[in-house]
Amino acid sequence: SKTIKKICCIGAGYVGGPTMSVVAKQCPHIEITIVDVNAARIAAWNDENLDNLPVYEPGLQEIVAEARNRNLFFSTDIEKAIDEADMIFISVNTPTKNYGKGKGMAADLKYIELCARQIAAVAKNDKIVVEKSTLPVRTAAALKSILDNTGNGVNFHILSNPEFLAEGTAIQDLINPDRVLIGGENDEAIAALVDIYAHWVSRDKILTTNLWSSELSKLTANAFLAQRVSSINSISALCEKTGANVDEVSKAIGMDSRIGSKFLKASVGFGGSCFQKDILNLVYIARSYGLTEVAEYWDQVILMNDYQKQRFADNIIQTLYNTVSGKKIAFLGWAFKKDTNDTRESAAIYVADYLLSEQAEITVYDPKVSAERIYADLDYLNTRSSEENRALVKVVNTAYEACNDAHAIAVLTEWDEFKRYDWAKIKEHMKKPAFVFDGRKLLNRKELEDLDFKYYAIGE
Ligand code: NAI
Repeated sequence: SKTIKKICCIGAGYVGGPTMSVVAKQCPHIEITIVDVNAARIAAWNDENLDNLPVYEPGLQEIVAEARNRNLFFSTDIEKAIDEADMIFISVNTPTKNYGKGKGMAADLKYIELCARQIAAVAKNDKIVVEKSTLPVRTAAALKSILDNTGNGVNFHILSNPEFLAEGTAIQDLINPDRVLIGGENDEAIAALVDIYAHWVSRDKILTTNLWSSELSKLTANAFLAQRVSSINSISALCEKTGANVDEVSKAIGMDSRIGSKFLKASVGFGGSCFQKDILNLVYIARSYGLTEVAEYWDQVILMNDYQKQRFADNIIQTLYNTVSGKKIAFLGWAFKKDTNDTRESAAIYVADYLLSEQAEITVYDPKVSAERIYADLDYLNTRSSEENRALVKVVNTAYEACNDAHAIAVLTEWDEFKRYDWAKIKEHMKKPAFVFDGRKLLNRKELEDLDFKYYAIGE
């Protein structure tokens, strides 16, 4: 098969950045250029100070330090990178459409289409184009049509190579993946990509399929994972009414090898940029083929997640004697999960929004998320003015500061450091009774109750 010497990756985000860093580390003989229209993001990837990389992932800094300016480059010169590459990964964002037909459901493919048109305009020799972004099934047909009809008569082969990394464990997931999935029609193109992964992934874990199975598998994987979270969260509500304990139920069912123990932890709800968007996309596709029951089946996974966030906020309000007006609530965590600085669709945003609508005052501490990001997340909801958000929400640099004078603490992200705090000291500076609402079931109930906290955890 064709040996790939130069790769271009369009999109330097949470997927493009870590994925290509690992390919560069494992394949020092391949020159990789990651390009992006966002110049600030590229500058941050090139920053001398590795703490300023735009993506936080354990282990990422070390790899960037090793490969950057050796065989890994970050650039805004998209045309040059496309022109020189044998293989082009498209790793741009595919958010839910917020306008027109399919608004709030369908994937917005404008960024993908722009990439295809730009590749077609620039390419002077044959290219393999790899879909790394998560795309609706049959997108490759649209890409192929654009490439073939607007190009310079060169050959394009399209591959689907969805990414299964999870944020927070991206580097580990990339270095040691459960499987690599490659869908395509052209054997030589497929072999070229298999050869790259085979530098560090054993062949039996590299799965090749047709294009449509590959595209659909990524949406399906996310739908199944999210469904597990919503399923256990639905049971958490029932546990709270019946005296059952959701951790005990989880353990009991997880030991059944047909069910398995992973992804069975009850919480305030799933977040992240992918689960909701990809399920909505699946629902939209099912509807567009007239499969109403299929659409409604998967839609319920999202409704359950919305319910869980609302329920968590409602419980805080009810427990605080039915009013949080003027009360200070400390938020520990804002990221959608630990070990990432990503806040997209984080449950914290929605819980904060409900509480702010009840006139609560919120103080946030997150070890990796900036104040700017937190305000941007709230402003994006458009529930209230940006001035009001800034007046009601304070962002501080330590958890102790956040909890000072608070009526209640809400744990929204499962950062490890929260477990190690001096909880006696925290309590001393809080209003009494001191409430803790643990949306991640992270803290030790006995320790907190011994300190006379009023401790509430999901599903207990
Ligand atoms: P992101 O928003 O972090 O990064 C996308 C980047 O693409 C942005 O920096 C944006 O400026 C750039 N971009 C958009 N249009 C461009 C264009 N025409 N030319 C050059 N650059 C352009 O998004 P993220 O999280 O990296 O996701 C990318 C894709 O990967 C999505 O389809 C997502 O569903 C999928 N995915 C995401 C995972 C995750 O955990 N975040 C996991 C697996 C897949």
